[in-house]
Amino acid sequence: MNKHVSSFSKDDAFETDILTGLKAPQKTISSKWLYDDVGSHLFEAITGLDAYYPTRTELSILEQNAKKYLRLPGAHGAMVELGSGSSRKTNVLLSAFQDLSVYMPVDISANHLKEAAEKVRRAYPSLAVVPVTADFTGPLDHLPLLPELPVVVFFPGSTIGNFERAEAAQLLRNIRTAMPEATMIVGVDQPKDEAMLIEAYDDPAGVTAAFNQNLLQRLNRELGATFDLETFAHEAVWNTKESRIEMHLVSLRSQEITIGGERVSFREGETIHTENSHKYSEEAFTEIAGQGGWRVLDRDTDEGGLFSVYTLQAV
Ligand code: SAH
Ligand code: AVI
Repeated sequence: MNKHVSSFSKDDAFETDILTGLKAPQKTISSKWLYDDVGSHLFEAITGLDAYYPTRTELSILEQNAKKYLRLPGAHGAMVELGSGSSRKTNVLLSAFQDLSVYMPVDISANHLKEAAEKVRRAYPSLAVVPVTADFTGPLDHLPLLPELPVVVFFPGSTIGNFERAEAAQLLRNIRTAMPEATMIVGVDQPKDEAMLIEAYDDPAGVTAAFNQNLLQRLNRELGATFDLETFAHEAVWNTKESRIEMHLVSLRSQEITIGGERVSFREGETIHTENSHKYSEEAFTEIAGQGGWRVLDRDTDEGGLFSVYTLQAV
């Protein structure tokens, strides 16, 4: 089908990125595409699962240390949050940062961001809430920040773990270039028992499976692709060498699909790699932060040592 006469409303950059990934020897789709409206709601459902320990653990660390983070200059100026989602964790900081002037959540998922920003506005009427719909892997120097306000960048959830090491360092470098005086509060998941990780990323209720499979539904909806959902299964695997959980979608049979007017074939058992979720020790994350131009000021963790929240300063 000629893409110019397709009845689907297409975003060319999205389609190009997807087709490039599906033509690679290991088929890959960037995890940022997991977050359309449905995906964002499914992620919220994941955060409430018993099996998904990161959200409640990070929330407890933030609750315990929110007052301490008040010593960061940006806590009295502007907070930029990357991958803000529902802004639920933000609330913990906002209730402690009482003289914060500006809250700028940045997220790729436009409607979810709008709804979350509206809730924050209602809860904190004197705060200027400035949502920015953007891909934070792109340029960050256009963020509408006021030069006189100190900035704290909040990057929770271990979303930094969804990037390869070199990409994570590059992202941190971009943040530093755009906001050289800022400090950061960054959530990072720790390495742990493999069984606990697999349970978190392949939960018994199947919510993570639905989150992963929604990616194919999104391609059907937005790009007119012909994926049959029954023939692709969710898989979560622990990659010891890279210290990461990988999500894949496994083709249950040999098949061919069409997308954007092109044919893509799958062998039985072939996968699309849809997400990496790196689990970093203190040493590993300190190294990445250093490569990105940041020094670790502090690291807060929970009793079980499951998750870490780092405060970083530009070097
Ligand atoms: N911070 C929240 C949500 C984490 S989920 C929490 O800790 O629970 C990851 C969030 O990052 C989602 O809201 C997703 O839409 C957003 N996101 C993922 N990749 C992104 C990108 N490249 N640019 C902007 N936002 C992105
Ligand atoms: C947003 N990100 C840090 C989550 C994670 O744990 O890697 C996304 C997720 N994928 C499956 N479950 C949750």
